[in-house]
Amino acid sequence: MTDSKPKVVVTRKLPAPVEARMAELFDARFNASDAAMSAAELAAAVAKAEVLVPTITDAIDEALIAAAGPAFKMIANFGAGVDHIDVEAAHARGIVVTNTPGVLTEDTADMTMALIMAVARRIIEGAAVAQAGGYTGWSPTWMLGKRLKGAKLGIVGMGRIGQALARRAKAFGLVINYHNRKPVGPTIEGELDATYWGSLDQMLAHMDIVSLTCPSTPATYHLLSARRLKLLQPHAVVVNTSRGEVIDEAAMAAMLVAGELGGAGLDVFEHEPTINPNLLNRPNVVLLPHMSSATVEARIEMGEKVMINIRTYLDGHKPPDRVIPSML
Ligand code: 8YV
Repeated sequence: MTDSKPKVVVTRKLPAPVEARMAELFDARFNASDAAMSAAELAAAVAKAEVLVPTITDAIDEALIAAAGPAFKMIANFGAGVDHIDVEAAHARGIVVTNTPGVLTEDTADMTMALIMAVARRIIEGAAVAQAGGYTGWSPTWMLGKRLKGAKLGIVGMGRIGQALARRAKAFGLVINYHNRKPVGPTIEGELDATYWGSLDQMLAHMDIVSLTCPSTPATYHLLSARRLKLLQPHAVVVNTSRGEVIDEAAMAAMLVAGELGGAGLDVFEHEPTINPNLLNRPNVVLLPHMSSATVEARIEMGEKVMINIRTYLDGHKPPDRVIPSML
C-alpha cells in the first residue's frame, strides 16, 4: 500500500496535524529534528522523491533541480514567497512549482501594523524599561512617540498583503498611498482611500512611513536602494515584512547610525538569519525574527494548501497555486 503512495520529502518540521494528514496521503519523509537540510541532503531527496516540500530555508537552485531524478515532478513550497526557488529552471525541466498564498495574508498584515505601531509609539523601548524595573515615574515629556492618525503611509506592493495592511492602517487614521506595478483600480482605491504613485521616488519623498509588501524578484532587488533611501524624509520610518533583499540593508543601517532616518521595523533581513550589526540595539529599530506569518492557524492552513496542491496535481489536474515564471 505504502509503495503506491507518492514519495514526498518535507524539508522542515511542520505542525503535527499537517504531518499526520500528510502521512495518510503520501509516502512522506519528515524532518523530526527540524534542522535545515544541507545541499547534499536536498540533492539526495530530489533524486528519489516525486515531490519536495521546501521552505524559505532551502535553496532550490538550478544545480539542485539538475540533480532531480526521473520521478521528480513537483516543488510544493510551504510559503507564499518563492524567491528561494529557481522557478524558471524547474519549469524548463517540466517540474511544477506551487506556493501557499492567501492563508498568511491577514497575519502578515497584522504584524506589519504591529511593527508600524511599535516603532511609532516606542512600544519595545518602553516595555524594556518597565520590564527591567526601570520605570521610576511618569513624566509629561518622556517616551513620546509619533501620532499615527494623519501620518502618510506609503505601501510598496499593493497585492493581497498590501491591501490587508491598507485596511488596517486606514482604521488607524493613516493616509494611504501606494506604489505598485499598476494601480489596483478605482473600486479598491475608493474603499481604501488610497492614492497611487506611479513614481516610487516621488512617493518616498513625501511619506512618514514606508512599508514594503512586494515580492522579492530580480526586479525588486534593492528596490529601496541607497539612492532611494536618501529620498526619504529624515523622520521617515521603514517597515519591511517582505524580503530583506528588497532593501539595501547596509545602506539603510548606515543611515540609521547617522541619524538620517526616523526608525525601522524589520521582520526580514538581507542575509537571514544574520542581521546587520548596525541594526542591533537601536531604540528606534524594532527587529523580529521573520515571524509575520507565525500563527498556529496560518501554519496549518499553509500545510493544507500544500497537500491540496500535491493531491490535485498528482490526480492529473492543475494545482490551484501554481507559480509560473511569467508571474514573477
Ligand atoms: C513563511 C514567508 O513562513 O510565506 C512566506 O513567503 O515569508 C513566511 O512567512 C516562509 O516563507 C515559509 O517558507
